[in-house]
Amino acid sequence: MTILVTGATGNLGRLVIASLLERGADPQSIVAGVRDVAKAQDLGVPVARLDYSDPASITAALDGVDSVLLISGSEVGQRVAQHKAVIDAAKDAGVAKFVYTSAPKATTSDLVLAPEHKATEELIQASGLPSVILRNNWYTENYAADFARAAETGVLASGAGDGRVASANRKDFAEAAAVVLLEDGHIGEVYELGGDVAWSYDDLAAAISEVSGREVSYQPLTADEQRDGLLAAGLDEGTAGFVVALDSGIRSGALADTDGTLARLIGRPTTPLIDGLRAIA
Ligand SMILES: NC(=O)c1ccc[n+]([C@@H]2O[C@H](COP(=O)([O-])OP(=O)(O)OC[C@H]3O[C@@H](n4cnc5c(N)ncnc54)[C@H](OP(=O)(O)O)[C@@H]3O)[C@@H](O)[C@H]2O)c1
Repeated sequence: MTILVTGATGNLGRLVIASLLERGADPQSIVAGVRDVAKAQDLGVPVARLDYSDPASITAALDGVDSVLLISGSEVGQRVAQHKAVIDAAKDAGVAKFVYTSAPKATTSDLVLAPEHKATEELIQASGLPSVILRNNWYTENYAADFARAAETGVLASGAGDGRVASANRKDFAEAAAVVLLEDGHIGEVYELGGDVAWSYDDLAAAISEVSGREVSYQPLTADEQRDGLLAAGLDEGTAGFVVALDSGIRSGALADTDGTLARLIGRPTTPLIDGLRAIA
């Protein structure tokens, strides 16, 4: 059985390859799909050039492949067309398992990032591919910049209000992808994957205090206060609006649910927030 992992030079992709190998996969049974082959020499598995915007490269990379992990692209706004190119090529190649990294409750969420994931899930569904959807909650690693700022200033400022986030480490999500790829079954499942604990921003401030050694307090911001602060810090209107919209989604609970599915899949508790922050620090 041959497994193609797209985005394999990214943070998650590298961890998925490592998790597949840790779980005993033959390196020769894995293909790292990468847009820049020069960045992939240390992966320890065969490499194929695969650019989401170059359908011929996708078709070539799928040669002899049974299972695909499509790691969602990072070029926001272009992703539906890019993902469609991978779905179409996988359908033509007749792959037996198509796994996609999506977002929490992608088809019903009002999270600003959800629409591209919703559209991708719908394309997968319409394709008839035997699929597994991994709706990944936030990576704890997303909070590296907040950690650094809060450790320096003593303030964690956010527009997330009382919203909670069931984050886990990228490694946890990567292991889940490896399990789903290596085990028989899982076809047709839509897994909502999150950390075991949905923490609040007060919890996050307390955890940063503990790890950094500096007392940090949480300062909730209104959307306007947050936007003004981001603009004053030099962000452009579009980026500031995007960050405000993300936090608004968190405030309304878009990332708050957790049901233990991730821990069950990987066979261990997810990485606690405090340990994720220690790794960041
Ligand atoms: N759940 C979360 O908290 C969260 C946070 C951030 C992002 N995400 C999503 O999860 C994905 C994986 O996360 P990550 O941390 O691994 O992100 P990442 O480190 O930015 O990796 C993204 C990967 O996508 C590849 N890529 C981008 N455009 C491509 C294209 N046109 N053709 C082929 N490959 C392309 C990149 O290739 P290069 O290595 O050549 O750049 C990279 O390997 C992201 O792309 C994003 O969709 C989720």
